[in-house]
Amino acid sequence: MSLVTETPRGGRKATATRTVEWTAEILVGILDSTPGRVPDLFGDLTVSRRRVVAVDTKFHAIHGDRLRALLARYRIEHPDPVIVQGGERSKTRATVEQITAALEAFDVSRFGEPLLLFGGGVLHDVGGFAAAEYRRGITYRMFATTLVCAIDAGFALKVAISDPFKNRTGQYHPAEAMFTDPAWFRTLDHEQILDGTGEIIKWAVVEPSAPLFARFERHGPRAVAEGFSANDPDALAIMRGTIKGMMHELADNPYELVTERRSYIGHGMSMAFEPQVTHGQAVILDILLTLMIATRRGIVPPKLRDRIVTVIRACGLRLWHDVLDTDRIVSALADTMRHRHGKQSIPVPNGKLRTITYMNEITPDEVRQALDDLYATAHAA
Ligand SMILES: NC(=O)c1ccc[n+]([C@@H]2O[C@H](COP(=O)([O-])OP(=O)(O)OC[C@H]3O[C@@H](n4cnc5c(N)ncnc54)[C@H](O)[C@@H]3O)[C@@H](O)[C@H]2O)c1
Repeated sequence: MSLVTETPRGGRKATATRTVEWTAEILVGILDSTPGRVPDLFGDLTVSRRRVVAVDTKFHAIHGDRLRALLARYRIEHPDPVIVQGGERSKTRATVEQITAALEAFDVSRFGEPLLLFGGGVLHDVGGFAAAEYRRGITYRMFATTLVCAIDAGFALKVAISDPFKNRTGQYHPAEAMFTDPAWFRTLDHEQILDGTGEIIKWAVVEPSAPLFARFERHGPRAVAEGFSANDPDALAIMRGTIKGMMHELADNPYELVTERRSYIGHGMSMAFEPQVTHGQAVILDILLTLMIATRRGIVPPKLRDRIVTVIRACGLRLWHDVLDTDRIVSALADTMRHRHGKQSIPVPNGKLRTITYMNEITPDEVRQALDDLYATAHAA
């Protein structure tokens, strides 16, 4: 829809809306795909078969040969893949330039030649950022090789680099399609599985419709032990439920202009514990503190708090870390307010699961008390 109207002083005001479409799919056996079985894996090949490919170093070391064979089966014309180191230190302008240089050298067109990314959340964020900038925006397709990427980053709109502060410079530019294959998670270490689990629990606690939390309570700890990679129908259902719920939230508020978001749970204080604690685990510690505060405020009944604590414990996630400290948390909350229109807007279940309220004006005394409560909970026999 576009519209041009007159301003009060006789100027012109233009209004245009843009439709954004993106998909996310779990597909078992991606590296064995054939054009007959999954014709759209790399986009519309009748428009062009030319693609630039960027691959995470570790994924490339493990699956590089099969990936080349897959590209050959689809008769993709491509230069040597750009190999990108995983990890936070790669979220730099230099990595963006490495990918942009490959796009430029191959003279990628503005339409019909999506960049193909095989990697985790870091490659998503940095490669998606390169795609957002190149020719002012080309499409890209994300092949999520980590659990964090599969259930969160891979179908997010946000892409970013951390030059100089984490995720401070970025764009809203989702992959037109995300695919993931749980078999790829077999080579992740257990800490990475716990990281992804933190983001799954985050969504299960605030999810508005389907019974994701109850399913997670029943099957989550087993899925975590199996690394979400065992083709276990319950693990797949948990991942699909998380993706579906989060896609709804993103579609309703794609540019985060509404700063009250369910998925902000676990993200108002967590930066106070990073990098000493990895992101997903920091999210869990944040959720635990949020529950302690909300229980003291009479928002969350102790029984619900204890249910959530029990499942977190059963997954083997930390309930405590010595980095937890009042001053750090208070300063993280101040930074959160700068991001959310001057309010803390900390989501938490309102009495029961599925309904949400937003807490504000959390004081240093409440933080101190929450730390005491959490310490006692974590160290209870
Ligand atoms: N855009 C968003 O909304 C969003 C959401 C969540 C997280 N993120 C970002 O995602 C990043 C974290 O994601 P991540 O944990 O996937 O990080 P990552 O991409 O750095 O991957 C973690 C490690 O796993 C390795 N790896 C990748 N695939 C592998 C495989 N199949 N087997 C073995 N090793 C493999 C990588 O080389 C790296 O060492 C953070 O930078 C975070 O900010 C973004």
